[in-house]
Amino acid sequence: MPEIRIVSTRPFPGQKPGTSGLRKKVAVFAQPHYLENFVQAVFDSIGDIAGKTLVVGGDGRYHNRAAIQTILKMAAANGFGRVMVGQGGILSTPAASAVIRKYRTFGGIILSASHNPGGPTEDFGIKYNIPAGGPAPEAVTEAIHARSEAISEYRIVTAADLDLDRPGEQRLGAMTVEVFDPVADYADLMESLFDFAAIRAAFKAGFRMRFDAMHAVTGPYAVEILERRLGAPAGTVMNGVPLEDFGGGHPDPNLVHAHDLVEALSGEGAPDFGAASDGDGDRNMVLGRDFYVTPSDSLAVLAANATLCPGYKAGLKGIARSMPTSAAADRVAEKLGIPVFETPTGWKFFGTLLDAGKATLCGEESFGTGSDHVREKDGLWAVLMWLNVLAARKQSVADIVTAHWREFGRNIYSRHDYEGIDAKAADGLMEHLRGLDLKGKRLGAYGVAVNDDFAYTDPVDGSVSRKQGIRVVFDDGSRIVYRLSGTGTEGATLRVYIERFEPDPARQDIDPQAALADLIVIARDLAEIEARTGRTEPTVIT
Ligand code: G1P
Ligand code: ZN
Repeated sequence: MPEIRIVSTRPFPGQKPGTSGLRKKVAVFAQPHYLENFVQAVFDSIGDIAGKTLVVGGDGRYHNRAAIQTILKMAAANGFGRVMVGQGGILSTPAASAVIRKYRTFGGIILSASHNPGGPTEDFGIKYNIPAGGPAPEAVTEAIHARSEAISEYRIVTAADLDLDRPGEQRLGAMTVEVFDPVADYADLMESLFDFAAIRAAFKAGFRMRFDAMHAVTGPYAVEILERRLGAPAGTVMNGVPLEDFGGGHPDPNLVHAHDLVEALSGEGAPDFGAASDGDGDRNMVLGRDFYVTPSDSLAVLAANATLCPGYKAGLKGIARSMPTSAAADRVAEKLGIPVFETPTGWKFFGTLLDAGKATLCGEESFGTGSDHVREKDGLWAVLMWLNVLAARKQSVADIVTAHWREFGRNIYSRHDYEGIDAKAADGLMEHLRGLDLKGKRLGAYGVAVNDDFAYTDPVDGSVSRKQGIRVVFDDGSRIVYRLSGTGTEGATLRVYIERFEPDPARQDIDPQAALADLIVIARDLAEIEARTGRTEPTVIT
């Protein structure tokens, strides 16, 4: 039996999970006791773990394997009965959620910093997902944080590293470690939701797509599902080999970082459909030939067409979206006669609604879409739902989205990010905005109808989350929202979300930056962005 060591330690400040887990530079995680403290704080905060099963895996980024070895040894020392590890330490975030649910485990630990770059000088991250499969709710993350501030020792066994590449069972003291295929269960779940026969037939008839895995975790999932099970030609998946540094790229599926894909989808002869996913496989970007679908529109279009997919034939119970996400989905919900929920930013807020059967589809403007099949957003799921809709409607992406605008009106939308700004300046800017009282005032051509800092009361468990973003809503429904990112590891990132509704079909085919120009100026002036941050332009526009 390996020896269980009880190691004395001291708290590290700042082990506070953000929008999605604890994210820091690799160097921070790699220092002695740092990861161990946080993992012990998790184990101490989630109830009775004796004999239970835990799922562990990550997006394959630098430090993934080393962290998994530590977690396994700590799980054994803390009394878990079994740990299921994705082969090679790989598990996409949605696949981890699927596996936690399928095998009814006592949750899981996912190692990822999502779309943040990877490598020795880049980011690493860790989060605990609860037995329902979703990110730990705030009460749990707060308990973990509190525990991390009081920790004085952790438990770990002394043992040789396990072989993470050999499928099957190994022993670690009294605990069993099971290395399993990270793709199979997830691929089976996708096959149960979508009309694979129709999609296969479309590929056979010449439908062409590109999927950009961005050298991140979805490569093996996409190859298995798109190329093997659906028969798309080899080469459909680009950048399909997961690399520890994502090939030096920034694995964020947006127009800036997924430029290979954007290029592949432009011009005559380009494929019919393009999609990309992020570091850990929960985000998606969807493109048609020379056509970009905003994530907010994607949610609305998928909701309007959901019954074309076998898994959603019975219709949707409701739609949930994060507050900064455009109201496009609300118009679909209204027509379908189903409720819509507006939650704070972060997938963890959808969990209670999904568990309670109040919502079926969820989405965030930040390239996140998902459903009640798991408790995370799911990149490949969104791609497959689009493929199912395209195969059923036999129209182009552009035609489907444009027809959607004609029917429901278009919520013209853009997000402007100011990355890496001074943290103090960012806090000052938010304080300045909080101090404004704009209700009833005029800004340019717009009268202000609502001005507040968004607060949310969870309709299922009654928990309250405050300070979730400054809203300036105008009389005509146009809107500016400001919030600071909770996922960065350097300085601060200000996100400004701008939206206007355009019901007139003759005016819908317009570049969003042009259509929103006056609101963009108002947004910059109101927040004094240039004076406070020194920035004249955002770093990323989506
Ligand atoms: C960002 C997105 C948010 C998403 C999160 C995790 O968080 O804005 O919608 O849930 O990443 O993928 P933020 O950096 O804005 O706090
Ligand atoms: Zn992600």
